[in-house]
Amino acid sequence: MTYVLFNDSILDEADVAISYKDRGYHFGDGVYEVIRVYNEEFFTLDEHINRLYESAAKIEITIPYEKNALKAMLHEYKTKVQTVNGSIYLQVTRGVADRNHLYTKDEVPVILGFDLPDKGVSQKQEQGVAAYVTEDVRWLRCDIKSINLLGNVMAKRKAYDHDCDEAILYRDSGVTEGSSSNLFLVNNQTLYTHPANNLILNGITRQEILAIASELELAVIEEPFPKEVLLHAEEAFISSTSLEIVPVHSFKGDIETTLNVGPVTKKLQYAFQERVTKKTNASV
Ligand code: PDD
Repeated sequence: MTYVLFNDSILDEADVAISYKDRGYHFGDGVYEVIRVYNEEFFTLDEHINRLYESAAKIEITIPYEKNALKAMLHEYKTKVQTVNGSIYLQVTRGVADRNHLYTKDEVPVILGFDLPDKGVSQKQEQGVAAYVTEDVRWLRCDIKSINLLGNVMAKRKAYDHDCDEAILYRDSGVTEGSSSNLFLVNNQTLYTHPANNLILNGITRQEILAIASELELAVIEEPFPKEVLLHAEEAFISSTSLEIVPVHSFKGDIETTLNVGPVTKKLQYAFQERVTKKTNASV
């Protein structure tokens, strides 16, 4: 049986009655998180839950449970589906209503959660991936982890159509992030990444990497940089919940260059695994 978390119940997938009037379908009107499980333990659960509530608040969705109650539901679900290593996807849409752009503020949010298998990214983590550099055509509230991801999915498809694993997006103001990851460059023992403002999603993995960099006394510059800077990067890597830290071995598209999988990236990968082990007691 495949179980799904639906509002406050865990149901067989056949019993999940999603309404065709859910605003998630009409408008992409909702927010989500992907939370990693290592060795049966959630990793950075509080950070994901806090971001979920923040994203929801930014679009005036009030999640109808206290954070602790939602966390308890997630724990119960994880136990039910016996996740050992994998992820849990959780989304909250504004609710069910007749199609109308105008929301009334009294819709009842709909919560949906399901488990995602471990993606098996170790080869990418070792060898790196190619990334396709293309214009960022998304909206100006990329800080909200919205389920409305048209700009992201279009960029991802474009990257795959050019034999790349990820799209790296840029605006006039500089390089922002990947279609489903954050981007870091390394030059002279210094990490460069876009500041956490409205133009990127402040990744939980990104925040973990910044904490590790501080522990390792690695300098960090959180400032936008033009796409041409990619040409001079010693190392580059992308980060996300599912990828952790994956080196970029080449940029294609509007910037073309190759890079080495370098020592700073490897050091951060190692430190990240140590952090996972420490926080989850996982032997990964
Ligand atoms: N994506 N930027 C974007 C646009 C993202 O979609 C993601 C994550 C990240 C990295 O965030 P985090 O480190 O918190 O996973 C950055 C998730 C994994 C997804 O949509 O599947």
